[in-house]
Order: sequence, then C-alpha cells, then structure tokens
Amino acid sequence: MKNDIYNPDYVRRLFNRMSSSYERMNYITSFGFSLRWRKDFLNPFNSTNDKVEVIDLMTGMGETWSATRRKFPNSNITALDFSDGMLSYAEIKNEKSFGNKVSILNQDMLNNQLESNHYDYVTCAFGLKTFDKKQLEVLARETQRILKPGGQFSFIEVSKPNHKILTALYEFYLGKAIPILGRVLLGNPIEYKMLWKYTNNFGDAKNTSEIFRTIGLKVEYSSYFYGCATGFSGMKKHN
Ligand SMILES: C[S@@+](CC[C@H](N)C(=O)[O-])C[C@H]1O[C@@H](n2cnc3c(N)ncnc32)[C@H](O)[C@@H]1O
Repeated sequence: MKNDIYNPDYVRRLFNRMSSSYERMNYITSFGFSLRWRKDFLNPFNSTNDKVEVIDLMTGMGETWSATRRKFPNSNITALDFSDGMLSYAEIKNEKSFGNKVSILNQDMLNNQLESNHYDYVTCAFGLKTFDKKQLEVLARETQRILKPGGQFSFIEVSKPNHKILTALYEFYLGKAIPILGRVLLGNPIEYKMLWKYTNNFGDAKNTSEIFRTIGLKVEYSSYFYGCATGFSGMKKHN
C-alpha cells in the first residue's frame, strides 16, 4: 500500500523530489505548450474586475497564478498543495511577484479543511493524473462542496493524444526521451518515468469529466492540440 503510486504519501514524496527540476522539465515535456494551456484552460471564464474568490488546487509552484491574475485582476487567490518542496518555490513566487497576497494552504485535497460554498472559481492545471478513480470522486464532491452555487471550475491535464502518429511520438517522448533527459540533465530519471506512467493510466479527462457530471455538476469537455491535453469546465448548479 505504501508504494501504491496513488497513495498520497507516495505522490507527495515524488513531488518533493521533483520540485527542484519541475519547472524546467514541465516546459520541456510539453514543448512549451504548458504555458499556453495554463492560459487556455481559463477561457471558459469571463474576465471580471470584481473581487472574486479563486482557489487553485494542486497549485505546485503557482504556475497558474499569473494567468488567473490577468483574468481576475482583483481576485483573492487561494492556492492549495501538499508538497513542501513545491510550496517552498510557490512561497518565493508569492513574495517576489504577488506581494504575498496569495493565501497558500499546505493541505491534502482529499482531506481538506476548506470552507463550503465559498469560491467563485476552482482551477486546477495538471493535478488530476496522480489520483485514482475513487480519489477523483472525492475531488469532484469536494469541488462541488467548496464552490458557491453558480460558481465555475476548470481542470486540464496532459493526456494521451487521439491521433496515431502523435500518440507514437508522445509515447517515445514521454516514455523514453524524458527519462533520459531527466537523468542527463537532472539526475532523477525514475521520477520522470513515473509521470509517463500516470499519464498513460490517466488516458484523457473523459472519465473524470463523467465523474464530475454524475455528482450533479454541469460539465463541458475540452481537448487541446489533438488531445495532447484534455480537460473540462463547468458550473455548480443553483439550488
Ligand atoms: C503536476 S503538478 C501541477 C502543478 C501546477 N498546478 C502546474 O500547473 O504545473 C501536481 C501537483 O499536485 C500536487 N498534489 C497531488 N496530489 C495532491 C493532494 N492530494 N493534495 C494536494 N496537492 C496534491 C502535487 O504536490 C503537485 O505539486
């Protein structure tokens, strides 16, 4: 159980070990697409100057904060993650670029203390693949619980593309090239091999979007660049 790759302790340790190289590798693994996707996945939301409450789940080092602030310049941003390693970089970013205005929470999303009916927006980039089906059901229920009625959410995750040639390239790149790059550049090939394993098991966000729909949220599925990333967005219904 301890080495189950979906065990939260295992996931936390994995991200702690990867935190020093995550930003660079994330950029390389997505050919720079990750930057663009972090903007695109906020497209379902209309921009507003209102003082809205936004929570970024599985925030890592705060990679989505800039895009969120551009969309919602006067928002209160809360950011949640459970990896001390990733959050230590998030804290530096908070101080350097966000005037310490982001409220950073070190909590396990599957066992959190977040307020109910509190957030106007829930965002999450690349934080789905390390959850199994049961955990995704918890995540869906928690998303519903913390959103205000009428509140909106958007999730995106790296996925196995639905195009044959791209899938082959993707498998080679993520499964073979990245672990070698990981070893040569960063000295931790196993961690980056694991990312491929999670992505492979995850497939795409269709099943997860169904889980969110089944519990009563309004959901729309999205695909980015031939399915290299997929996601879903939607709304908590008014009672
Ligand atoms: C692939 S990173 C994504 C980081 C960032 N959102 C981005 O756009 O790059 C996934 C993050 O999810 C966090 N995470 C995984 N499971 C979690 C859980 N149960 N509770 C809180 N954070 C979790 C990890 O610590 C890691 O920082």
